[in-house]
Amino acid sequence: MKYSDFSWDFREADTKRFTHCYHSYPAMMIPQIAERLLVKYGMNSKILFDPYCGTGTSLVEANLKNIHAIGTDINPLARLIAKAKTTLINTQLLDLYLKDFNDFAFQFRFGITRNYSVVLPQFSNIDFWFNKRAQHKLAIIKSFIDNIKDDHVRMFFLVAFSETIRESSLTKKSEFKLVRIQKEKRDNFDPDSFGIFLSKLSRNKNGLLEYEKAKENVATSAIHSFNTVNYIPDSKIADHSMDIILTSPPYGDSRTTVAYGQYSRLSNQWMGIENANRIDELLMGGKKKNHPYSINSFILNDTIEKIAQTDEKRAKEVFSFFVDYKKSIDNVSKKLKPRKYACYVVGNRTVKSVQIPMDEITKEFFEMNDFRHVETIIRNIPNKRMPSKNSPSNVVGDKSTTMKHEYIVVMQKK
Ligand SMILES: C[S@@+](CC[C@H](N)C(=O)[O-])C[C@H]1O[C@@H](n2cnc3c(N)ncnc32)[C@H](O)[C@@H]1O
Repeated sequence: MKYSDFSWDFREADTKRFTHCYHSYPAMMIPQIAERLLVKYGMNSKILFDPYCGTGTSLVEANLKNIHAIGTDINPLARLIAKAKTTLINTQLLDLYLKDFNDFAFQFRFGITRNYSVVLPQFSNIDFWFNKRAQHKLAIIKSFIDNIKDDHVRMFFLVAFSETIRESSLTKKSEFKLVRIQKEKRDNFDPDSFGIFLSKLSRNKNGLLEYEKAKENVATSAIHSFNTVNYIPDSKIADHSMDIILTSPPYGDSRTTVAYGQYSRLSNQWMGIENANRIDELLMGGKKKNHPYSINSFILNDTIEKIAQTDEKRAKEVFSFFVDYKKSIDNVSKKLKPRKYACYVVGNRTVKSVQIPMDEITKEFFEMNDFRHVETIIRNIPNKRMPSKNSPSNVVGDKSTTMKHEYIVVMQKK
C-alpha cells in the first residue's frame, strides 16, 4: 500500500524540542516522524538500530521511549552530535563549567585580557575560511574546552563550539556546501564568537533540561563508526538482534546531493579529525566505481537506462550509489529479528530530468532480503529543510526545489 497522508507533514511541530536543538545538520529527520513510527511499529521494542544515524534523531526518540539504541555514521561530527544529544550530564557540574566559561569569556569580550597566548591550529586552508581575528577567538574557546576534565561536559561544549565555528567562518551560512562570502564582507567580518558560543550553550542547556525531565528511564545509545556498506561487525550488533530499524539514508552521493562531509569539514578540522576533507568520498556512492556486476532490479535498471540516454557518466554514478545502497541494505537486514520492522525515510531525487524512485528501489532491495512490504507513506516536506533545497544542478546557490515529498517505506522481515 502506498498513499499520501498529510498528518505526517507535521507542519506546525516543534522539531527542535529536547536535545534536537543542539546542532543543525543537512537532511535531518523530523523527530515527530521517528516518534510516530516508534509508536506504530516499535511497541515493546528493547533496542533500535539506525544505520545512518547522522545527529541521532531516532536515537533520542528511542531513548525517550525507554528503548536502547545503536547508531552508526561515518561522519565524526555527526557521531559527536548524536552522542551528545543522547547523553545526560551532571547538570551541577555543567553549571560550574558554564559559570567558569562566562567569567573567562567576559575578559575577552570586554577587552580586559589582551595578551592571552594561544596556539592557532594548523590545517589546510584555515586562512581561506577564517580570518585571523576569528581564528584567535576560536582558538581561545578551544583551549578552554580542551581543559574540561569531564568527558560529557566537554562533549556538550564541543557541540556548541562546532556551530560557533561555522558562524565564525567566512562561509555563506545559507549554503551547506563551503562557499566563501564576498570580498567586501570578508574584509569587515568580525564575528562575536564568544557571544555566539554563549548563546548556543544556553540554548542547548535548555534543551538538555527539557530532555532530562522527559526521559524517565535509563535507556542509552551506543554510537559507532561502521561503514554500513562494508560490514557491520557481529561483535557489536549480532545478527537477528534488533527490534526495529529506523533511519533516513542518503539520497545519493555527496557530490551531487547532500555534502555531509563538506558541511562538517571545518568543525571536523578544528577538532583535529584527520582527512576531514575526504569524508564525502567515504560516504555511500562517494567513490565512483565501475561495477562489473548488475543488480537484478527492473526499476533500478530502467531508471539507469533512461538517465544513460542523456548522460552515460551520470547514469554510472547513480548506479554506483545504488550498488553501495544494496550492499548496505543486505548488511542491515541481517541485524533485524524476524517479523520486526525496518522503516526507511527516503527521497526520490531527479537526475537529468529522470526521477529516481528510491522508495520503490528500497522496497525491492529489502524484498531481495526476504522482507515484505507493509506500506509506503508519502509526506510533504513542508518547511525549508535541506533535502528540498539541495542543488540539483550542483551549482552553488541554485536552490530550486528538487524534492517536495518524502517516502516512509515500511518493510517487515518474514
Ligand atoms: C540523511 S542523513 C541522516 C540524518 C539523521 N537522520 C539526522 O536526523 O540527523 C544520512 C547520514 O548517512 C551517513 N552515511 C552516508 N554513507 C554512510 C555509510 N556508508 N555508512 C554509515 N553512514 C553513512 C552520512 O554521514 C549522513 O550523516
